[in-house]
Amino acid sequence: MCGIVGYIGKREIKSQLIEGLRELEYRGYDSAGIAVMQSGKIDSFKAVGKLTNLDNKTKNFLTDGLGVGIGHTRWATHGKPTELNAHPHMGDYSYVVHNGIIENYREIKSELENCGVNFLSQTDTEVIVHLFEKEYEHYKDTFAAFKATIERLEGAYAVLLITQKTPDTIYFARKGSPMIIGKNSENEVFFASSDAPLIGEAKEVAYMEDGTIGYATPDSIYTEPHTLQFVPLSGDKLTAQKGGYRFFMEKEIYEQYEVMSDTMIGRVLDNEISFEEIDENFLDGISRIKLCACGTSYHAALVSSYLFERLSKLPVQVEIASEFRYKEPLLTKDTLFIVISQSGETADTLEALKMAKHAGLKTLAICNVDNSSIVRLADTTILTRAGIEKGVASTKAFATQVMVLWMLSLYFGKRCGVLEDSQINKELDAIGHVPTVLKNALDIHEKCKRLSKRYLHGHGFFFIGRDIFYPLALEGALKLKEISYLHAEGYPAGEMKHGPIALADAELFTIALMPKTLLYDKTKSNVEELSARDSTILAISPEIFDLADDFILTHNHNHPMLEFFEMMVVEQLLAMEIAIRLGNDVDMPRNLAKSVTVE
Ligand code: F6R
Repeated sequence: MCGIVGYIGKREIKSQLIEGLRELEYRGYDSAGIAVMQSGKIDSFKAVGKLTNLDNKTKNFLTDGLGVGIGHTRWATHGKPTELNAHPHMGDYSYVVHNGIIENYREIKSELENCGVNFLSQTDTEVIVHLFEKEYEHYKDTFAAFKATIERLEGAYAVLLITQKTPDTIYFARKGSPMIIGKNSENEVFFASSDAPLIGEAKEVAYMEDGTIGYATPDSIYTEPHTLQFVPLSGDKLTAQKGGYRFFMEKEIYEQYEVMSDTMIGRVLDNEISFEEIDENFLDGISRIKLCACGTSYHAALVSSYLFERLSKLPVQVEIASEFRYKEPLLTKDTLFIVISQSGETADTLEALKMAKHAGLKTLAICNVDNSSIVRLADTTILTRAGIEKGVASTKAFATQVMVLWMLSLYFGKRCGVLEDSQINKELDAIGHVPTVLKNALDIHEKCKRLSKRYLHGHGFFFIGRDIFYPLALEGALKLKEISYLHAEGYPAGEMKHGPIALADAELFTIALMPKTLLYDKTKSNVEELSARDSTILAISPEIFDLADDFILTHNHNHPMLEFFEMMVVEQLLAMEIAIRLGNDVDMPRNLAKSVTVE
């Protein structure tokens, strides 16, 4: 999730690019860079960290007159957030910025290296600029070379390229990653990953179709095979950052299916899971796993405890970080210590990680923020690649954590030799369906909106489920209480009769997670017990259940994890719609902070 901008015109180009990047900083901010070309001369600047670092570095650089520029704010996917890995990447006479992931970059890189090309960075992006220059040697025509380059790329990309061979021109292409082009009557052309940088700058914009490739000069814009449909641009910048959604949380729920694909890229292969982050001998001497996290990340850990034991046959213990710190835990060196954190800065989780390291355990972080404190400390990190999460209530970060953990349990299962190929293939098949399931699950939004009005005034909510749907029940209850301020608890469905059922009456709302592929009849009996005590039941299931007062009918799936991800979306949408009806600020709920850096 990076952000890119481009500009052609006579304004001061550096400021134009940096102001544009400022609007996109929410897409990633571990490094940033620009390249500016005037009269065929290119100047480029890069800085690690927030945009202000780039701003400071370019203080004395100002342009005058016509020129072109490209800029990038980075959210690392391949390679650490260093200056060398920051964009723009350069060749001998060209510069490129890119948002997305080039899946076949290794193959292209080794081809180019065999031809004597020297790579400076660890990124997938750098192959684009070198490949372009190689193609240019062949075609002696910049657009033909650019087209040949883009045709070789597999994966997702929004690309801007400038070259000294054709001053005043920006080459562009998009597939799978967003890019908008804008223009106005002063012979200016703008590019950006979202509307926000273009508001107040471009009079008209075109939302490029996937597969569009072209080039722009001050006087003309050429594209193929799609033409551009320009429309007037209005609105304010914050609304534009939200991409038309009412809240960041809503946007983040809606983009889960896209970020999930990013999480999987390069890791889900034909017959196996691959983690280039993990070295060959990683599991040597390991016979158990301990997972440690807080809040939603703790729920992801709980989900994975079922998966690790089932698929990797490794005993698992899950700990709440704030408890772990003071319980004088017994740590043995055959334990792999996994911490999970969206922010990578949660004080309790960080401290737990320090304790594990101190005890000499092997450590692994599953984290969304590269270069965060937890990432820097852990022996190994797997990034979840959810992109920046702005809503305080975690949604897409949770989804990607669960996905990474599911993939990891398969990876360990294979490494430990406890999984048959047929089992791996079944799991891989299900994993491949997750983005579509997340996308189709959004169809239920309208129903959640309608139902929400009936769930505003009870004395509390029970979310219940069994197996992996128990931590999902915990997560559903947490989502609801965080943003609606209503009292909600998650329980294992079978635990009701051991106490909680005493609360059941018509004013107690039960949200029942009733997957068809896992313990359906057992869960159904527990829901019947609650229904018999007059609790108001909202059943979430692909199976009609007569005793439910309300029903959210999910799709039929052949794997519990697919039912899991669909029900996760239902819980998120329901919590959000209830909170909106109650008039709450969904993105910034009271008393909460996005990153909890205190005990
Ligand atoms: C809930 C939520 C929190 C976090 C918790 C841990 O929606 O976001 O419960 O999950 O504060 O934060 P990280 O994952 O950043 O360590």
